[in-house]
Amino acid sequence: MIQMKVAPSLLSCDFSKMGEEIVRIDKAGAELIHLDVMDGHFVPNLTIGPAVIKALRPLTKLPFDVHLMISDPLSYIDAFADAGADYITFHAEADSDIDETIAKIRSRGIKPGIVLKPGTPAETAFPYLDKVDMVLVMTVEPGFGGQSFMADMMPKAEKLRAEIDRRRLPVLIEADGGITEKNASVVSAAGIDVVVSGTGVFKAADPAAAIKLIQNA
Ligand code: DX5
Ligand code: ZN
Repeated sequence: MIQMKVAPSLLSCDFSKMGEEIVRIDKAGAELIHLDVMDGHFVPNLTIGPAVIKALRPLTKLPFDVHLMISDPLSYIDAFADAGADYITFHAEADSDIDETIAKIRSRGIKPGIVLKPGTPAETAFPYLDKVDMVLVMTVEPGFGGQSFMADMMPKAEKLRAEIDRRRLPVLIEADGGITEKNASVVSAAGIDVVVSGTGVFKAADPAAAIKLIQNA
């Protein structure tokens, strides 16, 4: 039985003390740090940019998983690379050319990933599976933390799992949105490798216990 990795989303942390929050969640057993970047255009919300990510970078050795919910990811790859991203995932539905964006991320020595909104089919990612390190399946509409998990996204995750395994590719599947210790077993059963959890970890009474329950689901 393979354990899922947990990437707490800083979107649910206390923004008045982000530095302390990242240290707290690292100590609680986080395996990646998920950073949600929103531009108020691709999604109807605004969050953090490269300056904040750069300021947080020295506080942990954990990989930074930067999720770009922005219309023109290609124009900002250098900024997020300079800020210290380890993974950069961007939406298939954004305006940038997908191949060019993947190539740009790679050229900076960073792991690229493609993100699918709930309405986008698994097949959209198929032509890029041999070029990316990760596919991120959204289990809520992107834009806000604390929404309800969409269990009906699991067949899409299973389709991706089957295709990645059939082609024997080393691509991780990540799921993001509304995942907690309560529904993590459904996510695990669909073959997800990495779970993003914002509310489920940061608002838990015991984040370390919540992370363990998700890992072992
Ligand atoms: C939604 C973000 C998610 C979200 C996760 O647009 O991409 O990362 O904040 O938070 P929860 O786990 O609270 O849904
Ligand atoms: Zn996210």
